[in-house]
Amino acid sequence: MARRPIIAGNWKMNNTIAAGVKLINELKPLVADNKEVDVVACAPATCLSAIAEAAKGSNIAIGAENVHWEKSGAYTGEISTEMLNEIGVKYVVLGHSERRDYFGETDEGVNKRSRAAYAAGITPIICCGESLEIREAGTYIDHVVAQINAALEGFTAAEVAELVIAYEPIWAIGTGKTATFEQAEEVCKAIREAVAKKFDQAAADAIRIQYGGSVKPATIKDLMQQPNVDGALVGGASLKAADFSAIVNF
Ligand code: PGA
Repeated sequence: MARRPIIAGNWKMNNTIAAGVKLINELKPLVADNKEVDVVACAPATCLSAIAEAAKGSNIAIGAENVHWEKSGAYTGEISTEMLNEIGVKYVVLGHSERRDYFGETDEGVNKRSRAAYAAGITPIICCGESLEIREAGTYIDHVVAQINAALEGFTAAEVAELVIAYEPIWAIGTGKTATFEQAEEVCKAIREAVAKKFDQAAADAIRIQYGGSVKPATIKDLMQQPNVDGALVGGASLKAADFSAIVNF
């Protein structure tokens, strides 16, 4: 079954409002003719409003990098789904290893954030991935499947079909050390099988699974040829319009 590719940029803590708007304006004509790929730019909260405005009428959807599960209240530093909906944000990156490692994000929190986002009409891009230590111990599939099973707790099969998962081995993020296509495919396939087991085959066939970790224009084509890889979550290379558009237009 054909799944529509989805390429998302994860800007992380980069780009001021001016820089973000400039990047979107540079990107727009470079990806305008691409009708086959869902293009997403996930950006810091401060520039979401301005880049959503800049992206209006284009084929670039805007994503956030976090959202809280409660509708409002005493959660200093957090952002609600209503705030993102007001801007027209369509996606949100959740459970990124940087959030897990530096800010104490837990599987339970990722699940709560994901369910709140989905319920508000914002598609979560749920990240998972193993450290080098876990990779070398050989338990990486169990680790990633456990992260995904926890993140998807409480969703229905029909809902899961609409989600996006990003498999990002931590040892490949920002290191220039991309996983081999076989390594990416092995884990993305295992994730799909886990979704089939927990939910059903239809959900597994429909859910889109990205690979992330040092994705570059030179590596995207072979990556996209893997049967279980449906796109990419791109960090560093998403900060340059030429590189990101080359990835989108693989
Ligand atoms: P990278 O980041 O492409 O710079 O490795 C990917 C990510 O962390 O989403």
